[in-house]
Amino acid sequence: MSSNLYERLGGRDAVFTAVELFYDRVLGDPMLKPFFDDIPMKEQKAKQRAFLAMAFGGPATPKAVDLTESHAASVAKGMTDEHFDAVVGHLGATLESMGVPAEDIAEVAAIAESTRDAIFGRVPA
Ligand code: HEM
Repeated sequence: MSSNLYERLGGRDAVFTAVELFYDRVLGDPMLKPFFDDIPMKEQKAKQRAFLAMAFGGPATPKAVDLTESHAASVAKGMTDEHFDAVVGHLGATLESMGVPAEDIAEVAAIAESTRDAIFGRVPA
């Protein structure tokens, strides 16, 4: 077993598969869809790929992305911890549907959790 979560989940191919499934779930959730209405679809997918690569602990260069800035518009639109929890839930359900083991899903959820304060701008930049 690889010690690297990103590789263990299937690397780049898994990210591409997961993004399709995850994207459908997020946009199919009436609570989340409005946040993505103004984002062009092509860019959304690229960003979801960056999101997943980051959540998988892959080479997404998280420091190159300012998560506070990326989510400022969503926060202004009323994004709360409830929305964040829903996104993490969809991520877990996506991975579960791909047959990812529970321990790995828990690891992904912990990585996503570690971004919460930055996403809401609760920590200094
Ligand atoms: C696990 C938590 C989350 C992580 C790790 C995350 C990560 C990311 C990343 C990496 C991007 C791309 C940033 C860029 O390229 O500039 C992004 C964009 C975006 N995220 Fe999140 N996100 C999370 C939760 C959420 C939630 C809860 C919402 C709203 C309900 C949301 C809405 C958006 C939107 C609308 C964009 C596109 C922003 C734009 O293009 O202007 N995200 N996110």
